Amino acid sequence: MGNVHTSDVSFSFRINNQKEVQLHIGINSSKILLTLLGEINPDKVFIICDRNVARLYADQVSETVSKKFPAHIIIHSPGETSKNLVTIREISEEFFLHEGTSNSAVVALGGGVTGNIAGFFASIVFRGIKLMHIPTTLLAQLDSAADVKQSVNSTTFKNAIGSYKAPDAVIIDPLFLKTLGDREIRAGLSEAAKHGLAQDLEFVNYLLACDIRSLDDLQKIITKVIKLKIEHWESTPAIWNDSLKTERLTHLGHTTGKILEMIDRNYLTHGEAIAHGMVIEAYISHILGHIDLGSVMKIYEILLVLELLYPLSDKYNPDYVTNQLYHGNNKPIFALLVELGNPQTISTTVPKKVYLRAARWYFSQLLMAKH
Ligand SMILES: NC(=O)c1ccc[n+]([C@@H]2O[C@H](COP(=O)([O-])OP(=O)(O)OC[C@H]3O[C@@H](n4cnc5c(N)ncnc54)[C@H](O)[C@@H]3O)[C@@H](O)[C@H]2O)c1
Ligand SMILES: [Zn+2]
Repeated sequence: MGNVHTSDVSFSFRINNQKEVQLHIGINSSKILLTLLGEINPDKVFIICDRNVARLYADQVSETVSKKFPAHIIIHSPGETSKNLVTIREISEEFFLHEGTSNSAVVALGGGVTGNIAGFFASIVFRGIKLMHIPTTLLAQLDSAADVKQSVNSTTFKNAIGSYKAPDAVIIDPLFLKTLGDREIRAGLSEAAKHGLAQDLEFVNYLLACDIRSLDDLQKIITKVIKLKIEHWESTPAIWNDSLKTERLTHLGHTTGKILEMIDRNYLTHGEAIAHGMVIEAYISHILGHIDLGSVMKIYEILLVLELLYPLSDKYNPDYVTNQLYHGNNKPIFALLVELGNPQTISTTVPKKVYLRAARWYFSQLLMAKH
């Protein structure tokens, strides 16, 4: 037997992760849709939407697209329960059946669920094809459409299977919100409040006073939140492919919120789950010696007035929530506010007993409010 030689070689890939995203806000967006698609110049456009949105808007958008490009509509079932790999497989089968190629484009038309499904699909088919978001819920307009995280759920974990992909273009048209129910509009206000609480307290006052059925007010809110988001990104670079797993202010309330959404799927809106999460996590920050109790109570009251602390069902209790969050060896990472109006959040793990204390405090708070 000869000598066995081993060698260690290391090398690096250079990845250019800068990407310009065209984002348009305004009503009557069909003209801009064609202009932006013209820049992408796809061989075919696959409009992905859920059944509810298909009934309301798919034909209208498809007719516009068809003026310049071949279009095909792919419809999936609505709701969080369809945000999974089975739906991705069904979509890919339809995509190939209708001659999708690496030069085709995906248009995600719908709420955050569709945005994530279509965004994830666009990121993996042919290792990535062009993606345009046309969000139709306030939540998706404020939050998920202008983001790089594209994921679906595993059987037990929310957003567990995913990728990073920036869309090529985002069209935000408040007109879509006309058909959206009040509870869904409020869900979007939760993400707006998140930015306000960390970056601009004056804006929180605007949210408290706004008319949620006024398209004008909604357009102002959308424009402001996108501005706050961009401000945040510009002050914290390296926002994607973040191997350090640092959580930033966009993640406020989300570590808890993701668990609340999975405990009783389709029961809470994403915005309500995040609102409950923001209060629990503000209390954690208080236990850790950062935010004062008065500010925690202020956050609670603001979210209460915005009707976001939707009553929790019997499936929720503080011990169960904690155990779900700390399953196995999981060490959840939180983004925590250090004070109201301060965007310098901290990213940290938290001992299970601290989390349990905060969760128990919050559930007793909810119980007191009920009586
Ligand atoms: N970074 C990210 O990618 C990110 C950020 C925030 C939220 N999300 C994800 O987004 C999802 C929640 O999004 P959502 O609240 O938009 O839920 P959703 O997509 O399920 O939409 C809510 C409901 O509204 C309906 N709908 C959509 N547009 C409508 C319209 N214009 N008129 C009438 N009905 C309409 C839908 O059919 C659905 O029943 C969650 O899965 C969450 O994880 C992702
Ligand atoms: Zn969110």
